Amino acid sequence: MEKISRTKIVDLLKRRDFGAMVNVKGWVRTRRGSKQVNFIALNDGSTINNVQIVVDLANFDEEMLKQITTGACISVNGELTESIGSGQAAEVQARGIEVLGTCDNTYPLQKKGHTMEFLREIAHLRPRTNTFGAVFRIRHNMAIAIHKFFHERGFFYFHTPIITASDCEGAGQMFQVTTKNLYDLKKDENGSIIYDDDFFGKQASLTVSGQLEGELAATALGAIYTFGPTFRAENSNTPRHLAEFWMIEPEVAFNDITDNMDLAEDFIKYCVQWALDNCYDDVKFLNDMFDKGLIERLQGVLKEEFVRLPYTEGIKILEEAVVKGHKFEFPVYWGVDLASEHERYLVEEHFKRPVILTDYPKEIKAFYMKQNEDGKTVRAMDVLFPKIGEIIGGSEREADYDKLMTRIQELGIPMKDMWWYLDTRKFGSCPHSGFGLGFERLLLFVTGMTNIRDVIPFPRTPRNAEF
Ligand code: 4AD
Ligand code: MG
Repeated sequence: MEKISRTKIVDLLKRRDFGAMVNVKGWVRTRRGSKQVNFIALNDGSTINNVQIVVDLANFDEEMLKQITTGACISVNGELTESIGSGQAAEVQARGIEVLGTCDNTYPLQKKGHTMEFLREIAHLRPRTNTFGAVFRIRHNMAIAIHKFFHERGFFYFHTPIITASDCEGAGQMFQVTTKNLYDLKKDENGSIIYDDDFFGKQASLTVSGQLEGELAATALGAIYTFGPTFRAENSNTPRHLAEFWMIEPEVAFNDITDNMDLAEDFIKYCVQWALDNCYDDVKFLNDMFDKGLIERLQGVLKEEFVRLPYTEGIKILEEAVVKGHKFEFPVYWGVDLASEHERYLVEEHFKRPVILTDYPKEIKAFYMKQNEDGKTVRAMDVLFPKIGEIIGGSEREADYDKLMTRIQELGIPMKDMWWYLDTRKFGSCPHSGFGLGFERLLLFVTGMTNIRDVIPFPRTPRNAEF
């Protein structure tokens, strides 16, 4: 077959130079037609849309044509023509076809309408479906939007380590990293494992957050963000938890809690706007297929100011709901760590828009959060979203060395591995704030998918690390 340089389908469908000879390559979605002429719907992943290939059967070898089945990979040379029937403006009249890869008849994506559960079992092939093609193109676009947002505002992308030896934030839910022979563990007289001869000479784990190192950078470069994988061994088998997920953590010197809330709100709105501007075909597909309210919800978030509400006020609203007869599975009282049903009540039923809840009881938040004058609450902020619950968690940080140390001692946090963190409060400490956005939670919102396993290519959850 004559060598013509390849055009991606996304570009081809925009072309109007009818009569030109083109080459497209991709995977066959469907093939239908009569004894004289066949229509192949071809997709190459560059867009949700297929290009229609028109094949005049008389011009092609019968044996070759037999190989053009659903899932096969083909290269087509042909004439770009105006289309009347394909739903697209342009199509290709085939002049030459080469089968690059035939497709075995055990290909599991023969027909439409597989369940999400089934597609998770074939996660190596599900990117070939319309749905996952759309989700993963949106995922890429959101990553670009995030870098663009911070870069345009003078933030520096800072790489924090994935392997860490400080376990203060993730106590109890960290994955250990070791090269020790697990069949032959040496222990001391108290039965504790001896790590001196382990790879790092001490116990090490996968990070649950880049924040603490991010704070070091913010107090030097001014404004930074991290964007990397984080790992949590919490055994929560929910549609919103992964054991391996990606987190974006901006950290900014001189920002107080209000600046932090402004940044979080601008940031999410920027990402949502980006999806509508740059992924409209994919978002529209997901809207029409699964979730007729998706586009409206995305546009809604852009229009509305997020509610900003202290935790104590939030509890009052929830208690009033209980009095009026609303049934929650878990109890509501001041001091409780809100469950997702509580968060969603505030967002979906009471305010009907995103809520930033602030000033939580210190007992249910991390040691590094700035303590309020009341002695009971800290300057925390959680951004709560419709259908999702918590999408962002953050705070102003405790900048005062003595107050931070007192809290650390109250909580009995082992500080021997944390001396470097405390140095920030000794050497030119400054007010600073930051937060963490769960990347997959953002994607749940933007795609309308209902299970977090369906917005990451290869989900890691309890008892599941296939592929
Ligand atoms: O609220 P979290 O635990 O906050 C932190 O880790 C802070 N160090 C962030 C900071 O201030 N720099 O987690 C932040 C966000 C959550 O709001 C949620 O969106 C997401 O990370 N997240 C998860 N996403 C998927 N699976 C899990 N298991 C998650 N745990 C948290
Ligand atoms: Mg949180």
